[in-house]
Amino acid sequence: MTKSENITWQDSKVNKTQRQALIGHKSAVLWFTGLSGSGKSTIANEVEKQLFNQQISSYVLDGDNVRFGLNSNLGFSADDRQENIRRIGEVSKLFVDAGVITLTAFISPYRADRDKVRALLAADEFIEVYVDTPIEVCEQRDVKQLYAKARRGEITGFTGIDAPYEAPVNPEITINTAEQPLAASVAQVLDYLHENDYIDLDHAKDFEAID
Ligand code: ADX
Repeated sequence: MTKSENITWQDSKVNKTQRQALIGHKSAVLWFTGLSGSGKSTIANEVEKQLFNQQISSYVLDGDNVRFGLNSNLGFSADDRQENIRRIGEVSKLFVDAGVITLTAFISPYRADRDKVRALLAADEFIEVYVDTPIEVCEQRDVKQLYAKARRGEITGFTGIDAPYEAPVNPEITINTAEQPLAASVAQVLDYLHENDYIDLDHAKDFEAID
């Protein structure tokens, strides 16, 4: 459904398959979902670095960062979270069309919203990564001190405290950061991409890697 009338879809002359062939690997979205402090951004950013070092074109869209710009007009009501995820889903689709392995790190608490993003993409282009860290662990870490604020009533509608989180039913990847170090979580994601032929180890050539 669009609000505008008198608009016509314009086909481009270069398609996704051609872009992927140029870049040398498939594109897809790794959709990280989980509580605040579960480790989504940490894992996504480390995966991005390792993909970069394998000469794979990737990009992280991060919840907090996107809320400074594209989604600066959205808060944390159920409606705003839905719109947040809808926009990121559309942006992810554009990135996938551009040939990039896209990593999104949003709580994305509602199953229906995540499923709508899945439906926007081809079956193998949406890889749901459930960062299944128990709330007790997230709250103990409390890197941003937001759980403490929520417990004191200084933030209302905080996910896991007084706003819902609906866990994925059938995610492609489940990671429990409480039970393994970061390197193992990162390896789980990279292994999935290799085993399912998204990326090819032979693709990497000599170039300057980053630490
Ligand atoms: S989502 O629910 O709409 O997907 P998103 O991932 O963009 O959330 O943003 C979550 C981040 O916003 C959290 O990691 C935290 O830093 C911050 N935040 C601020 N207020 C809230 C809140 N009420 N609930 C959850 N996270 C919040």
